[in-house]
Amino acid sequence: MTPLQPFAVPGAQTVHSHAFPYGLQYTGAASVEEAVQALTDFSASGELSALLTRHGAILIHGIGHASADTFARLINAAEKTRGSQPFVQIGLAGKRNAIAENIWTANEGPSDRRFYQHNEYGRYTRFPSNIHFYCEKKALTGGESPIAHSALVYERLQETVPELVEAVRSHGLAMRQVFRAPGNEGKGNEFNWAGEHSFGQDFHPGDDLETQKKKVEVQVRRLTDSFRWLEDDTLELTQFVPGIRTFYDKPVWFNGLVGRYGMTRDLGALEPPHLGHDGMTYLPSSYSDGTLIPQEYLARMEEVVDGLEINVALDEGDLLLVDNYQVSHGRKPWTGERRILVSMWDRDDHGH
Ligand SMILES: [Fe+2]
Repeated sequence: MTPLQPFAVPGAQTVHSHAFPYGLQYTGAASVEEAVQALTDFSASGELSALLTRHGAILIHGIGHASADTFARLINAAEKTRGSQPFVQIGLAGKRNAIAENIWTANEGPSDRRFYQHNEYGRYTRFPSNIHFYCEKKALTGGESPIAHSALVYERLQETVPELVEAVRSHGLAMRQVFRAPGNEGKGNEFNWAGEHSFGQDFHPGDDLETQKKKVEVQVRRLTDSFRWLEDDTLELTQFVPGIRTFYDKPVWFNGLVGRYGMTRDLGALEPPHLGHDGMTYLPSSYSDGTLIPQEYLARMEEVVDGLEINVALDEGDLLLVDNYQVSHGRKPWTGERRILVSMWDRDDHGH
């Protein structure tokens, strides 16, 4: 019998008759080796993929020795066994560092800042199939990892803000972003176009500005052909995304609209020139024809998504496996120290 046994996660919802998130309690031996083996077997049996597809998210509790190394061993075993490939980031817009094989720190932006619901890279034309979270160090207070089911969000939005759903369905979205030149970043969640996982993948020491910009353009074109350089070497780009996708014939609200709107509002950047308290620029989201999405729609959308959030409080050593296609995530502010790690993966067989 597998040492991964189902348990009911407190606060779980029922989505299309399935528990969300699904809980698995590890009941095996305390050593990391045993846990890695259990997860490998679980993955090889097809059970992990089936559960993740059915439930959208799985919380695995009870595996000890919380560390980046433990997470790396567990998640690489689970994902490689079922044939996933590591997701390669392009256009990273935040602070995030690689610390072990396919393991990253979660966005290291300020602890008092809330991150609203978003599918990872949901504003981008390239995004991972899965994003998994791991708690290495739990906050003193707060710091939950809230999740929401994107199929449920879609259904609820269709009931409450049908004008928005219709407009997104018929026009799609244009997500505009600004990447400042190195040295011109703001403070707090600073990033620029030169970051190794933004667009600076192929930089060499000694590259001059023009060479760097040429190299940046090669990477940007992997996401979009719609970009321009401003006078101060700021890069502005627009990615056209549908905003609604389908997962096994079910529509899912897949975009970063709430995340963008909530953060922009909190930073005081909703109105032109869209400059946040942190000195960074946050351009508003529009439909693909360039028409701005009315703020009234965005505010009502935020209310709906907020109401569907499940606050997952991860204990040290907990893994939260997330099907990025079906489920969005966020981050609550905290006090004390908190370290959440992430791992992102691609799957060829994903149901879309
Ligand atoms: Fe995220």
